[in-house]
Amino acid sequence: MKLILLGPPGAGKGTQAQALVESLGVVQLSTGDMLRAAVAAGTDLGKRVKAIMEAGELVPDDIMIEMIAERIAEPDCAKGFILDGFPRTVAQATAFDRMLEEKSLKLDRVIEIQVEDLPLIERVEGRFTCASCGEGYHERFKRPKRDGICDVCGGTEFVRRKDDNGETMKARLKAYHDQTAPLLPYYRGRKVLRTVDGMASIEEVKRQIGAAL
Ligand code: AP5
Repeated sequence: MKLILLGPPGAGKGTQAQALVESLGVVQLSTGDMLRAAVAAGTDLGKRVKAIMEAGELVPDDIMIEMIAERIAEPDCAKGFILDGFPRTVAQATAFDRMLEEKSLKLDRVIEIQVEDLPLIERVEGRFTCASCGEGYHERFKRPKRDGICDVCGGTEFVRRKDDNGETMKARLKAYHDQTAPLLPYYRGRKVLRTVDGMASIEEVKRQIGAAL
């Protein structure tokens, strides 16, 4: 299964990708996580992209295309993958099509998680992540079963993303509407696009994605 999750910042791409990893048995490729790991490790790439990400803008296409080309060539992608955060521009999508063609692979589905702008701000401002295992939570919508303790690993330290604030969200939403939303007609034309209601609960979105697959 080769799947793309498309949607604005905070739509639930990461949340749903994690659930699909379990049900489909394929890997999640989150370009945001890869870039944040590079920033945290202080690599040359990390130094190049840090300010761009903190401003809520998109990292240049050539960097992202090379990153994904290398990643999908790794053995754990042989069974398939869920792309979370890529492609984000038409240039990335056409480059990705070429990558698949060269490997004689076919894209199975693109799932659009549709959410209005206003609730997205509440979603990202309430989001936090376990510092040990990376499990994602939300102050209102997905609290740990026991306050302050990660359900998955028992960790007690949580982190918040630097770009999860109202000001940066404006830039991230603008980047989505200007540069990523044009991918919807692009994939609709290829007859692989399905849209789910991302305003519904996490469980309901999961169900709708299952039905769309
Ligand atoms: P990235 O990390 O991809 O961020 P994003 O697209 O802004 O998406 P998020 O991770 O913020 O949201 P999500 O949709 O995964 O939502 P989540 O499941 O966490 O990118 C960060 C930056 O990296 C970009 O700004 C850019 O600079 C750069 N970048 C990355 N890829 C790039 C590319 N290809 N090209 C160029 N630049 C790139 O959910 C959010 C919260 O809401 C959680 O707390 C969750 O619990 C909660 N929630 C989820 N679903 C629901 C629901 N249905 N109801 C209620 N709450 C919900």
